[in-house]
Amino acid sequence: MRVGWKYGLAIVFGAGLLAVAAGWVVTRASPPFAPGDRQFEGSGDPVRGQLVFNAGDCASCHATPGQPDRLRLGGGLALASPFGTFRPPNISPDAIDGIGEWTVVDLANALIGGVSPKGQHYYPSFPYTSFTGMTVADVKDLHAYLMTLPKVSGRAPLHHPSVLFRIRRFVGFWKLLFFQEHQTGARFTGDPLHDRGAYLVESLSHCAECHSSRNVFGAIRRATRFAGGVDPQGTGFVPNITQDRLGDWSEADIAKTLTSGDTPGHGRVGSSMADVVTNTAMLPTGDRAAIARYIKSLPPLPTPRP
Ligand code: HEC
Ligand code: HEC
Repeated sequence: MRVGWKYGLAIVFGAGLLAVAAGWVVTRASPPFAPGDRQFEGSGDPVRGQLVFNAGDCASCHATPGQPDRLRLGGGLALASPFGTFRPPNISPDAIDGIGEWTVVDLANALIGGVSPKGQHYYPSFPYTSFTGMTVADVKDLHAYLMTLPKVSGRAPLHHPSVLFRIRRFVGFWKLLFFQEHQTGARFTGDPLHDRGAYLVESLSHCAECHSSRNVFGAIRRATRFAGGVDPQGTGFVPNITQDRLGDWSEADIAKTLTSGDTPGHGRVGSSMADVVTNTAMLPTGDRAAIARYIKSLPPLPTPRP
């Protein structure tokens, strides 16, 4: 009997080891693009890159807080969330503290794969869950533009993630469950204006990252996508922008809000949406019209209860 008991223990121990080894393998960060990937050959266009930068709202998170220049991307803003406080890093072209030494492939792996040049996972407070839908051409242009911006020295303070996510490797489990490379919620119909809007709303401008509710792991609950939710700081409620609530708004009304912040009820958007509007106001008219068309096409969903 004693032999059987020891045998059982060995099996349990072996199975445990196997599970740990399997966990280690499946949570590995694998960058989507290899160094020197041919798709990224040739230089990007910094003028188009500026448009990508504005549509992506990068300055709202990465501009150095407490100074007026939104193009000084020194990072450091505190982003509070139920999973700790995160600090967008310095993404200025400074070679030491920023991303001056990054190749365009490094940038693509960060935005599309959520993987750093060192092969670590990024926390999803960096909305790569949306940026993952970006095109190679847009990443190239964005990289060219970022390299024209002022170099800022100094690093952002460290993140303070909650206990569960102290170890970055654990983000690998989160990604297994809630992240699919190159996949966003975008629906395409063949109408060029609608489809451009789908790309902007679902990927670059990441509207659903704020206008949705999240599950206990902080991932967007699909049934509430665009239907509104508590803001990440937990202080306010981001409105439903599906047709359940914006049924009375025309495409022109939505485009106007994205230009001036004015809403049809003679109001004005505030809080983090005011920053979004600073960016969308700089887009070409056609892109705001595209966003408006796609938003008008979102099927009505009831506002979730906070
Ligand atoms: C909602 C806030 C937010 C927005 C918007 C945002 N980022 Fe970030 N970004 C972050 C956070 C937070 C991190 C840090 C993630 C981590 O350390 O795991 C980050 C990390 C990065 C990194 C990695 C830098 C490094 O040193 O490893 C790059 C590059 C980056 N962001 C570029 C961009 C670009 C380009 C845009 C616009 C297209 C953008 N980000 C928009 C929050 C944001
Ligand atoms: C950083 C978070 C964030 C992002 C990203 C964001 N929004 Fe908003 N949005 C808000 C908040 C917060 C409000 C409420 C503003 C207020 O309280 O005045 C809002 C309000 C709005 C409103 C007004 C709704 C109403 O009933 O008054 C519209 C329309 C809107 N957003 C559309 C968009 C679109 C389109 C995008 C993507 C291009 C987007 N938002 C991206 C946070 C965000």
